[in-house]
Amino acid sequence: MPSIPSDLAPWFTANDARAQDELFAFLRIPSVSARSEHKPDCVAAAEFVSNALTRIGFTSEIIPTPGHPIVVGEWRNAGPGAPTLLVYGHYDVQPAEPLELWTSPAFEPTVRDGRIYARGSVDDKGQLHLHIKALEAHLAVRGTLPVNVIVLAEGEEEVGSENLEAFLEREHARLACDAVVISDSTMFAPGIPSILSSLRGLAYLQLDVQGANGDLHSGMYGGAVVNPAMALARLLATMHDADGRVAIDGFYDDVRPFPDHVRAQMRELPFSDEELMHEVGVAALGGESGFTTLERLWTRPTCEVNGLLSGYTGEGAKTVLPALSMAKVSFRLVPDQHPDTIAQLVIAHVAKHTPAGVTVKMTALHGGRPWRADLRGPIIEAGKRALEAAFGREPVITGEGGSIPVVGDFERILGAPVLLMGFGLPGENAHAPNEWISAENYRLGMRAAATLLDEFARAHAAQQDA
Ligand code: BES
Ligand code: ZN
Repeated sequence: MPSIPSDLAPWFTANDARAQDELFAFLRIPSVSARSEHKPDCVAAAEFVSNALTRIGFTSEIIPTPGHPIVVGEWRNAGPGAPTLLVYGHYDVQPAEPLELWTSPAFEPTVRDGRIYARGSVDDKGQLHLHIKALEAHLAVRGTLPVNVIVLAEGEEEVGSENLEAFLEREHARLACDAVVISDSTMFAPGIPSILSSLRGLAYLQLDVQGANGDLHSGMYGGAVVNPAMALARLLATMHDADGRVAIDGFYDDVRPFPDHVRAQMRELPFSDEELMHEVGVAALGGESGFTTLERLWTRPTCEVNGLLSGYTGEGAKTVLPALSMAKVSFRLVPDQHPDTIAQLVIAHVAKHTPAGVTVKMTALHGGRPWRADLRGPIIEAGKRALEAAFGREPVITGEGGSIPVVGDFERILGAPVLLMGFGLPGENAHAPNEWISAENYRLGMRAAATLLDEFARAHAAQQDA
C-alpha cells in the first residue's frame, strides 16, 4: 500500500495545529461573492491566498476582473522534464443567511465534535487551504517541489465563474499544464476517499410574471383579473410530467447515456435511500421514475424551483391580488446538454404555456456545462495512490449532482485532464447554515495533497518512459 512521504510526515504532525489556525483566519473573512457589500472582503480573501502563497516561496499575482479578483501563484523550479500541475480552488463563499439558524456565528470558525463549523469551511476555503499547506510541507522540508505548480484561486465560483472562462482563454499559455487537481467536492462516506467522475451542468433562469399594472383588491378584482401567482404556479407545474420527467420539448435530446460500466460501479456503492431520508428529514423521496437515487442524482438532468415570490408574505392576512410574481428556476444538466440550448428550450416552453392575461419576462442568469471524466492517465493514478496513502484504503469512484462549471473549461481550453478529489462529507451543510468540514479530513487532505505531488511526478515520468 502506498504511504505518505516519510520525510514529510513529521512536518505535518508538527504543523497541524498552526495550519488549522491559519485556516481559521481565512474563514473569518466574509467573502460572499453574491453580495456587493462584500466586495472588499473578496479582495481581502484574494490577498489572504496570495500572501499565503508568497510566504511559502511562490510568486503570486492578484488579477482584477470586472467581478472579483483571480489569484495566480506560480512555482516553476522543478527542473527539466517535470510536469506542471494546476491546483484550482475558490475563495468565495455562499451567503450565510439565515444567520439565526447558525449554532455558532458563520464567520467565527468553531470546532465541535471534530468538525470545523464556518461558512466556506468545506466549500471551498478548507479544501483550497489544505493544498497550500501541502505545498508548504514540501518547500519547508525539501526546499523544492517534485513538479511545477500553478495555484489558481477564483472568487466567483458561487456566482457562476463569470470571468474565468475568458481568463483561461486569454492566459492559456501561462496556465498551460499537464493536469489539474480540484478539491471542491465530497467523499462518498466517512473514511471512504473518493474520486469524482462526473458533474452536472446548470442552466439558471428567472421568470418575472406581470399581471395587472398594480396590486388590486382581491375581492373587487379576483375572479376576473388573472392572478400572476396562480399563473406562475400553473406554469411551473407544466415543467414535469407525472413520471417526474422534465416535460420540456427537446430537453432530453442531447443526453448521452452513462456507460454501463459506470452505472454498474454506482450500483456497487453502499447507498441507502433510508439513510438519505433520515439525513434530510423527509418521509419519502421523489424524482424521475425508472432510476435509482444515485442515478437520479448523478446521471439524470433535473428542473428545480430555487426561489418563489409573490403577493403578501407578512404577518396576518391581506386580501390582495398581486400584480407580480417571480420564480428562480434551475436545470441540472448531464453530458451533452448545453446550458444555452436548454435555456432556449425553456424560454420557448414558457412562451407556449403562458396563460392569457399575464406576461412573462425570462432572464438567463448563468450556466455551466456538465462534465464526465475519462478516468485514465497519470493524474488519476497519482490521485488514487495519494488518497490510499492518506486514508488507508483505495478510493471509490463517484458521481456528483452539483456543478463546477470550470472543470469542462480546463479540459477544453487548457487540454488538461482534471482530478477531482474532495474531502467534504455527506451532511456537511454546504450552502446551508452550520456548514462544516471534518477536522480529520482537513488533516488527511493535506497529506493526500502532498503525496499527490510525488505520485504525479512519478506517474508522469513513467508515462514518458513508456
Ligand atoms: N463545491 C460546489 C459544487 C459541488 C458540491 C461539487 C458538492 C461536488 C459536490 C460548488 O461550490 C458549487 O456549489 N457550485 C455551484 C455552481 C453554480 C453556482 C454554477 C452549484 O453546484 O450550485
Ligand atoms: Zn465549491
